[in-house]
Amino acid sequence: MSKTVEYLKTRRSPKKYVESYKLSDQEKEVILEASRWAPSSVGLEPYRILFIENKEIREEMKEFCWNQPGTATSSAMQIWIGYKEEIMKNKIIPSQNERNVPEGFEKAREYRVLAYENVKSGFEIDNDQFCARQAYISLGCALVAAEEIGIDFCPIEGMLPRKIEKILEKHNLIDLENEFICVAAFMGKVDKESRNYHAFDKLRREKNEVYKIVE
Ligand SMILES: Cc1cc2nc3c(=O)[nH]c(=O)nc-3n(C[C@H](O)[C@H](O)[C@H](O)COP(=O)(O)O)c2cc1C
Repeated sequence: MSKTVEYLKTRRSPKKYVESYKLSDQEKEVILEASRWAPSSVGLEPYRILFIENKEIREEMKEFCWNQPGTATSSAMQIWIGYKEEIMKNKIIPSQNERNVPEGFEKAREYRVLAYENVKSGFEIDNDQFCARQAYISLGCALVAAEEIGIDFCPIEGMLPRKIEKILEKHNLIDLENEFICVAAFMGKVDKESRNYHAFDKLRREKNEVYKIVE
């Protein structure tokens, strides 16, 4: 069996965390590097990441994270920050073009701008959805890497992102003219001493309901 499949089968999204657990530098590095090396459409990497260990800031966020215990008791909250349309067009796409496409390949650079527009129109999504989709891929990579090194990791959509953004702004952690929250995650060590530290049994739909191989 593939290790990745094994990780996905055995990992759980924790509901309660060991509050005293501090992530090592190496653990943080693995999770953040897995997030950074994720693929993205047109290679645009249209997000940056806040990795918040600071408990006071997370305590402020708790009521806007549906009062989820992990907000402040997990070891860290990772937040993917997407770029709004203006900055994507004026800064992110040009700088990614410079980084990823060698000078002299002007047509390839133009093609990438067009590809970004065509993905949005083809899938009928706006810039923010485009960025968020890429952030979710990064989140998936981080989740698997976390399991590989024994860190319990829970993706988080249970939040009011517009309210959380205001808290981040107050701490000078986000530029709301140009940025927005895509998605988040809590991580640390699950607290097995605590009640309901996981939801119910881990189950998935049957293979034949989920996929069909067309030969
Ligand atoms: C995008 C996304 C958002 C999620 N948001 C939350 C959340 O806010 N709170 C929570 O407790 N679990 C959250 N989960 C965890 C799911 O409930 C969980 O993955 C699912 O029930 C399967 O359980 P498992 O992760 O233990 O296999 C989220 C999962 C994903 C993928």
